[in-house]
Amino acid sequence: MKIFLDSADTEDIKEAVDLGIIDGVTTNPSLLAKNKEDFKTSVSNICKITKGHVSVEVTASDFHSIIKQGEKILEIADNIVIKIPITCDGIKACKYFSDKQVKVNMTLCFSINQALIVAKAGASYISPFLGRLEDNGQNGLELIANIKQAYSNYANFHTQILAASIRHPAHFWQIAMIGVDAITIPPPIVRQLIDHPLTIKGLEIFNRDWVNSGLTI
Ligand code: E4P
Repeated sequence: MKIFLDSADTEDIKEAVDLGIIDGVTTNPSLLAKNKEDFKTSVSNICKITKGHVSVEVTASDFHSIIKQGEKILEIADNIVIKIPITCDGIKACKYFSDKQVKVNMTLCFSINQALIVAKAGASYISPFLGRLEDNGQNGLELIANIKQAYSNYANFHTQILAASIRHPAHFWQIAMIGVDAITIPPPIVRQLIDHPLTIKGLEIFNRDWVNSGLTI
């Protein structure tokens, strides 16, 4: 299972990368807009912190502009994955880049049909938005499980499912139970995956008993 950090905050990214369990980063225009630096500096800094895939999204909507923006973004670093929203022009652009062996992450996925078309267009990743579907009263986990099932019917589909829009720690293990390829997690949730009140309590007891015993290692 690949774990990406869903963030454009370089401090948060450094901290998560230091843990040694992060395979890359996913960004989006909203996350990058929070940074003080210009777009190119932000992306370049992120790509220096992690050697893994960094998804960077285009903001253009017509085919030619998507290609132009995508090519400009690709010049920033070698580990960039072009992130493209699922539209007709986006699918054309996905096919264009995939045919050139450029990795593409197709984003804002909310249906199995979208995921199937994206796989046909050769995307490296499909990003179904679990949290946003749940916000909308729909079953996001079911969608992700169904995408996995549908993909498994076709040996020539190589698109990896990257579960996105993660809202709470339970999403992490629920996604793992489905067995998807990858998940992208916001920084506050990474901490929540590690900390457990019983671990903290247990550690306090061990430390107290150890100190009282006078033993040393
Ligand atoms: C996916 O790649 C997006 O960056 C992200 O997961 C969206 O999450 P949100 O719904 O919390 O904004």
